[in-house]
Amino acid sequence: MTVADLDEVLALELRAYSHPWSRGNFIDSLAAAYTAELRLDGDGRLLGYFVALQGFEETHLLNITVASYAQRAGHGRAMLERLHRLARQRGDQALWLEVRPSNLPARALYQSLGFVQVGCRRDYYPTDRPQREDAWVMRLNLDAEGCGLGKRGQDALV
Ligand SMILES: CC(C)(COP(=O)(O)OP(=O)(O)OC[C@H]1O[C@@H](n2cnc3c(N)ncnc32)[C@H](O)[C@@H]1OP(=O)(O)O)[C@@H](O)C(=O)NCCC(=O)NCCS
Repeated sequence: MTVADLDEVLALELRAYSHPWSRGNFIDSLAAAYTAELRLDGDGRLLGYFVALQGFEETHLLNITVASYAQRAGHGRAMLERLHRLARQRGDQALWLEVRPSNLPARALYQSLGFVQVGCRRDYYPTDRPQREDAWVMRLNLDAEGCGLGKRGQDALV
């Protein structure tokens, strides 16, 4: 993803979320050299994208979005598999992410890949109501062989 892609990315982002990232959020992520990749079809049409912060021995997924017209066709899973490969190549210990408990499709995707809920940030997300929504903190352990953690994720993502 580059700044030149942001018109298209934002069009998709605005349709996908009640509280989308701003152009500035994407620009800051690109300026900070976060991992940011597009998923395109054979004609170059944008299907989705992800943004992740790679820190010390861990990667934190910040945004993963699939266009509504391309959902449930394996693109979200494929982008997470790509991120998983990048994290393994760096020798990361874990992949992290936050998700709204109400986001059942995203939770199903993450759980199918072996992410487990390890925490909760109270009142983390804005909503259309006066109350905010918690965030579930989920982790996929990448250094799990021998200790039994994340085995399902390892199997699913190899
Ligand atoms: C969440 C999201 C990224 C999933 O991407 P996707 O490409 O549609 O998901 P995939 O086709 O790769 O699905 C992989 C698995 O996730 C689960 N899953 C995905 N969408 C689901 C849904 N609507 N209901 C139930 N399970 C779902 C299933 O286990 C699925 O496997 P299956 O199709 O073999 O049953 C996509 O729905 C999206 O962009 N939503 C809007 C933005 C968003 O909420 N991003 C996540 C913020 S934390």
